[in-house]
Amino acid sequence: PVLVVDFGAQYAQLIARRVREASVYSEIVPHDMPAEEVLAKNPAALILSGGPSSVYAEGAPSLDADLLTAGVPVLGICYGFQAMASALGGTVEKTGLREFGETKARISDTSSTLFDGQPDEQPVWMSHGDSVSEAPEGMRVTATTPGAEVAAFEDDEARRYGVQWHPEVLHSTFGQRVLENFLVRGAGLEQTWTSENVVEDLVTSIREEVGDARVICGLSGGVDSSVAAALVQRAVGDQLTCVFVDHGLLREGEAEQVEQDFVAATGVDLLVVDAQQRFLDALAGVTDPETKRKIIGREFIRVFEQAARDVVGHADAEGHPVKFLVQGTLYPDVVESGGGSGAANIKSHHNVGGLPDDLQFSLIEPLRTLFKDEVRQVGLELEVPEAIVWRQPFPGPGLGIRIIGAVDAERLAILRRADAIAREELTKAGLDRDIWQCPVVLLADVRSVGVQGDGRTYGHPVVLRPVSSEDAMTADWSRVPYDVLAKVSSRITNEVEEVNRVVLDVTSKPPGTIEWE
Ligand code: XMP
Repeated sequence: PVLVVDFGAQYAQLIARRVREASVYSEIVPHDMPAEEVLAKNPAALILSGGPSSVYAEGAPSLDADLLTAGVPVLGICYGFQAMASALGGTVEKTGLREFGETKARISDTSSTLFDGQPDEQPVWMSHGDSVSEAPEGMRVTATTPGAEVAAFEDDEARRYGVQWHPEVLHSTFGQRVLENFLVRGAGLEQTWTSENVVEDLVTSIREEVGDARVICGLSGGVDSSVAAALVQRAVGDQLTCVFVDHGLLREGEAEQVEQDFVAATGVDLLVVDAQQRFLDALAGVTDPETKRKIIGREFIRVFEQAARDVVGHADAEGHPVKFLVQGTLYPDVVESGGGSGAANIKSHHNVGGLPDDLQFSLIEPLRTLFKDEVRQVGLELEVPEAIVWRQPFPGPGLGIRIIGAVDAERLAILRRADAIAREELTKAGLDRDIWQCPVVLLADVRSVGVQGDGRTYGHPVVLRPVSSEDAMTADWSRVPYDVLAKVSSRITNEVEEVNRVVLDVTSKPPGTIEWE
């Protein structure tokens, strides 16, 4: 792999993704991993990421020069560029010129390895206080910016390269070309990381790992569990049994999507547990949000556990036991939890995190090397239905936390219809990729007066909560065009008898969370 050495700012994941967008496989390693260990991973190239500090600051992450002299092609970016310059005998100092944000780089050699085929002036995104004032011996300076005389250098013989700016950031217009030039021309790598090859590789390694054991997988209807299941199914076919707990809190058409479309597309062996009544009974009369969440989580685990016991109890004809449990863990979870392996990485909110000890499974995590966008590409490659592949986030507790007040079957039916209309119109307006998600919330204990035809109504309001976000940690309310909102509102109040008012939530996060409960 190409290894991205993470010097501690938020850039490493982005760099790794960009490398993969260039169809080259990459992984992230922490900067404090000993050079020996890094090199033992047999890197095809190294990329030193940006970082928060000055190379001279106390406690600044250091760069082991062994990484630079092992004969592996290296690209240093921002802090990595400076650390590299310093380790190779160049000079890094506070020149008093700081650059933050967009500026222009002058390229002095547009036939150099990094800048081949690019204009001699290009917008670049920078974030540095110190600058390299003298390049190390043997390094050719190939670019300057107003704040950095040495803004890029290269040494083709030693296959060492560096840029002061951030090529991984979209504001650096030719950044992706710079990265690709490094990978292909500098490091001589082949661009073979395509979803077709990814599927092939993963299928092979799943087969090796599983052997002839059996595997169980909890399907939620979301992207990750669906793609994970489809991959394992492609690898070991009938040895996989999927369990889908229908808790009755899904949106219109979602249970059918899993029960029919997903099965039709993948041929997976699916056990559907209809637990709708059980969840309704457990939730009856409960209005407190946290209590609702706890009840839903608890019931889910109980139902899944029982289903798992049933599946495990039925060994196949040859008596092969169920040995593996599939989890849809993604690469960012792995990186954020320290890159270790195994059970420590189970997401705490994951639906099947709390299985009892006597059901002992080994975890199989087929997506643990993939970013979300790659999971989607793999899903498409496996012909998982697009409605699932492109599904927006939907909370595990489902519509249960979108009814403000107690949950019952009638209220669920009302919300399901209103939600289906909103989703249909947003999709028609082409807004699905612009908005992160648009919860529709039923204020079940609120009534307001309205008029329909010549009659007075006393119905419920629903809230539209369209949000834009990068990662759900923060969000802003989406500026959905008025005509789209008008259409949604008029259709909901016309088609859903119990709803006579549609209101728009214009709160960002913080202070409001995305969901209302
Ligand atoms: P909040 O409401 O905290 O939501 O701003 C952030 C994101 O997380 C989703 N969400 C959940 N997802 N289980 C999940 O799998 C949950 O219990 C849960 N609660 C909220 C929410 O839809 C939003 O995308």
